[in-house]
Amino acid sequence: MAFLSDTLARVKPSPTIAMTTKAQELKAAGQDVIGLSAGEPDFDTPAHIKAAAIAAIEAGKTKYTAPDGMPELKKAICAKFARENGLTYTPDQISVGTGGKQVLYNALMATLNPGDEVIIPAPYWVSYPDMVLLAGGVPVVVEGPLETGFKITPEGLEAAITPRTKWLIFNSPSNPTGAGYSRQELKALTDVLMRHPHVWVMSDDMYEHLVYDDFTFCTPAEVEPRLFERTLTVNGVSKAYAMTGWRIGYAGGPAELIGAMRKIQSQSTSNPCSISQWAALEALEGPQDFIESNKSLFKQRRDMVCEMLNAIEGITCPIPEGAFYVYPSIAGLIGKTAPDGTLIDSDEAFCLALLRANGVAVVFGAAFGLSPNFRVSYAASDDHLKAACTRIAQFCATLS
Ligand SMILES: Cc1ncc(COP(=O)(O)O)c(C=O)c1O
Repeated sequence: MAFLSDTLARVKPSPTIAMTTKAQELKAAGQDVIGLSAGEPDFDTPAHIKAAAIAAIEAGKTKYTAPDGMPELKKAICAKFARENGLTYTPDQISVGTGGKQVLYNALMATLNPGDEVIIPAPYWVSYPDMVLLAGGVPVVVEGPLETGFKITPEGLEAAITPRTKWLIFNSPSNPTGAGYSRQELKALTDVLMRHPHVWVMSDDMYEHLVYDDFTFCTPAEVEPRLFERTLTVNGVSKAYAMTGWRIGYAGGPAELIGAMRKIQSQSTSNPCSISQWAALEALEGPQDFIESNKSLFKQRRDMVCEMLNAIEGITCPIPEGAFYVYPSIAGLIGKTAPDGTLIDSDEAFCLALLRANGVAVVFGAAFGLSPNFRVSYAASDDHLKAACTRIAQFCATLS
């Protein structure tokens, strides 16, 4: 009898974490490495949010809470959905978890039976297919290529739907491409879903606040109110409020689904950290002005990185609508050889050779389901980004 479960064999460890670890190992061994593989803001959590957590500790708010979030936070989340998304949820329709990641995982665990299909647009956030597999489902990948701005088309979505389809996981702006769907583009997708009443939508709105130029964020239940009854709208404080380590995410959805997710959470983590919940409450209800200043900083970085990467022969870097990632194509470099003899026959070969030769850590596109590309996280200082892009250019110039 095998000791480890068969389920484990179906999933792989996160490639983004693997790349970040590799870069840290090289750094520890004395190599000069610039890491652009981690998906988190380089800013510190704002002081008023930290102060709320300290006050919570000092007031003894250090006990178990309700499994899927304390009432005060649920109320603030309802207010956030109403204020920013025009969505009316009641507290029994809210679930708070240990990061958006746990909320998504709970929802899949609560709904998937063996063989149930989940449509995942590619490029996708690395965890979606593995979470579906862990929950016993079948990921069905629909490609959104560079030519359509890394977005799927209504035709692509329609063709992927079968009687076994349970969910579409929708993520805009996207990790890893930064691509954001306009209201019109999203409406075309929700029109398809209206023709298939058995398909639900899990909308991962984690990068809602990080959108640039004249792009306006929208979410499925807002664009098509008739989808409200079969939509789980997922969000969190990690990215917009620079709170990745605090681990608070949340979702709004039908009470029956939220109740099923609560059951799973109550038998796994019991509840998200009480102190982090008080911090998240302050994040949602306190001053929001720093989001705008972080945003303008991110936009400047995006523009600089795109400009520097597009100047490199063999690289094409579309300018994304949001998040803090770019997803350049290296189609023009495939087939070349690095000075150490490495054949650049894939984006993985490119990223590993780049890390070895010039000390820049980025994540290869195959990890996100669309090649040949790589993901740059521009949540790093201007100096680091400038130096990294210069090194990428130098590396590419050595390929023959
Ligand atoms: C698209 C997307 N969804 C969800 C998450 C999870 O965020 P958290 O668990 O920190 O709330 C991430 C984090 O990288 C992400 O990029």
